[in-house]
Amino acid sequence: MSTKCYILTVDGPAAGGKSSVCKQVAKRKGWFFFSSGAIYRGVGLIIRLEGLDPHKEEDRRKAAERFTSLPEIDITGRTFLWDGHDIGHQLKTADISNLASLVGRCAVVRDILLNMQREIPEKLKAEGFVTEGRDMGSVIYPHADLKIFLTASPETRAKRRLLQKGLNPMTATAALHQIAREISERDNRDQSREVAPLVVPEGAHVIETDELDQEQTIKAVMDLIGV
Ligand code: DC
Repeated sequence: MSTKCYILTVDGPAAGGKSSVCKQVAKRKGWFFFSSGAIYRGVGLIIRLEGLDPHKEEDRRKAAERFTSLPEIDITGRTFLWDGHDIGHQLKTADISNLASLVGRCAVVRDILLNMQREIPEKLKAEGFVTEGRDMGSVIYPHADLKIFLTASPETRAKRRLLQKGLNPMTATAALHQIAREISERDNRDQSREVAPLVVPEGAHVIETDELDQEQTIKAVMDLIGV
C-alpha cells in the first residue's frame, strides 16, 4: 500500500479565511491540518520566554533553533509545553502575533523552519495533509498535489473581521474603512517583503471569495481535490 501523503497548500493574504476553510476541509477528509503561523508564533514565544532580543538576528536564530529542538512541539498551535506546563494560550496574544510577524521576515529563521516543515507530511501517518500560510505552495511544498491561493478584496476581509467581532459593517463604517486600510497596508508589506513574499504559487488555483460564503469556498476546494 502506498504511504504517500496527499499535500494540499492554501496560501493567501491575512484575514482571508484560510484557517477556517482548511480546518473544515481537513475535518471532512480526515486529514491532518497544519497552520504554519503557529510555528512563527512558537519562535516569538521563545523570544519572550528566554528574554531574547527580537531585533537581533543572532537572538532570532537562537529562538528558532531552540524551537526546533523542543521535544514536544504541537504544530497545530493549540498547546505549547514549557517546563511541563501548557502555555499555548499565550501564542494568540497581540505581543506574540507581532513577534511572529517580525521573525517571519527573517531569512535565517525561515531557513531553520523550512526543513522542519518539509518533514511533517513525511512523518505523519495520515492520508492527507492540509496546510495554510504565506509561502506553503511557493517555497515549502512546491511539489504539493494541489495548491490553492485564497483571496478576497480588503473590503470583504474587513467586513468579515467586523462580523466576527459582532459589529454591523453597515453601521460601523469608520471601523470598516480603518480595518480595510490596515489590511491593504499589510498586503503591501507581505507582497513586497524581501524574504518569502506573498505570491500566487506556480500552478496554484486562485479562489476569489468576495462572492462566496464559507460553505461555498469549502465546496470549491473540495471540488478541486476531486471529491
Ligand atoms: O497566520 P498567523 O496569523 O498565525 O501568522 C502569524 C505570523 O507569522 C504572521 O504575521 C506572518 C508569519 N507567518 C509567516 O511569515 N509565514 C507563514 N508561512 C505563516 C506565518
